[in-house]
Amino acid sequence: MAQIDPKRFAGQTAIITGASRGIGFAIAERLVAEGARVAITARKKEALDEAVAALGGPDVAIAVAGRADDPEHQADTVARTIDAFGSADLLVNNTGINPVYGPLMQMDPEAARKIMDVNVVSALRWAQAVNTAWQGEHGGAIVNVASIAGLRPAPGIAFYGVSKAAVIHLTEELAWELGPNIRVNAVAPAVVKTRFATALYEGREEQVSQAYPLKRLGEPDDIGSVVAFLLSADAGWMTGQTLVVDGGVLLGGGA
Ligand SMILES: NC(=O)c1ccc[n+]([C@@H]2O[C@H](COP(=O)([O-])OP(=O)(O)OC[C@H]3O[C@@H](n4cnc5c(N)ncnc54)[C@H](OP(=O)(O)O)[C@@H]3O)[C@@H](O)[C@H]2O)c1
Repeated sequence: MAQIDPKRFAGQTAIITGASRGIGFAIAERLVAEGARVAITARKKEALDEAVAALGGPDVAIAVAGRADDPEHQADTVARTIDAFGSADLLVNNTGINPVYGPLMQMDPEAARKIMDVNVVSALRWAQAVNTAWQGEHGGAIVNVASIAGLRPAPGIAFYGVSKAAVIHLTEELAWELGPNIRVNAVAPAVVKTRFATALYEGREEQVSQAYPLKRLGEPDDIGSVVAFLLSADAGWMTGQTLVVDGGVLLGGGA
């Protein structure tokens, strides 16, 4: 981890979806290290309980198991967060799925709907739920986890890219609508070494890394640190932006 400010988020509470492992967990870890209390979600309770213990236990973290696209789970999580910690200042829409691989011409429309539902509609609904219960009255900040796949074509995972492009635009629309008291930004990572991305690098990490000017793939905390920045007062005059966090890979070029 780079520089930590243990009081940066003192007195603030964050809800982070899809945070039992990977990028979401790294975001939670970073926010707790910087003084926040967190509510983390995922579908599997056991992994969530382990994550809460790793974050420092119930004084700093609670877990609520459920599907990110289930409105009851959303409302329950927000209510339990406020009940446990007294506020819901920060929201990180981190959950994202990509259940299919292949050309768009063979894309199952049901799978496409599911991707849009979990990656896009859910992000909106979480923002609504947090708005109703806390941010609408008290303000706060939101970060949506997009992807570089939403910024340029990503053959093979094309519809996932369509959903992440929508997340980027949703970020801009929310930023307009929710200012001045709520800031909304996004991050767009390239390949980060998590279970989700294993197929993109396993067994050929060295080779894949060569396309990156920084010559390595991302670690979850490479994203956690940038999300913490966007949620913090250091980004107090930023809203509607998508920060690309990609080891330079979008620069292209090379041989
Ligand atoms: N890794 C990359 O290279 C990369 C690059 C760009 C963008 N991203 C984005 O980063 C975000 C996090 O990905 P990751 O790589 O950290 O994935 P990961 O390591 O596989 O972690 C995914 C997390 O989300 C939970 N989850 C999955 N589906 C869920 C659902 N329907 N409802 C609630 N929770 C769910 C998982 O727990 P359960 O399985 O128990 O639910 C887990 O906690 C995603 O939005 C992804 O699109 C990742």
